[in-house]
Amino acid sequence: MKPYFALFSFSIGLFAASLLLQNTSAQDTESDERLIIDDGWQAVQENCTECHSTLLITQNSGSKTVWESRIRWMQETQGLQQLEESLEESILNYLAQNYGQKESSRRASLAVTLMPDNPYESID
Ligand code: HEC
Repeated sequence: MKPYFALFSFSIGLFAASLLLQNTSAQDTESDERLIIDDGWQAVQENCTECHSTLLITQNSGSKTVWESRIRWMQETQGLQQLEESLEESILNYLAQNYGQKESSRRASLAVTLMPDNPYESID
């Protein structure tokens, strides 16, 4: 009787764990794909998700100029239609505001005095 019970509770445990795993991974992708709700998000949803998923947008970042250059690039090479000026402006503002230029994630360079000697430097 006892071993059966152990096996039974073990299976229940596995089942619960698998549900938990499935659930968290589903949440991760969903939240990455969902646009931040802010002024202009519907314009992006309507005009920018026809050819690719929102993930391509939410995983990118940049200043307004950078976002504008991406739009121009898509217009020139990928068949993105011309956007009405006020529409484009609200899309660009939304993107720059919510997916703006990231701070560099690299640490600052070491001071020259803290660097080891350069073995390749000529001595003459
Ligand atoms: C007509 C189709 C189309 C529409 C509409 C479109 N795109 Fe794209 N976009 C593309 C294609 C094609 C690529 C390249 C995909 C790839 O590299 O896999 C791309 C790539 C991108 C990239 C990645 C660029 C990079 O540097 O890697 C971003 C960001 C992007 N689009 C944002 C947008 C935004 C914002 C909009 C709305 C203004 C938009 N897209 C609308 C076709 C489109």
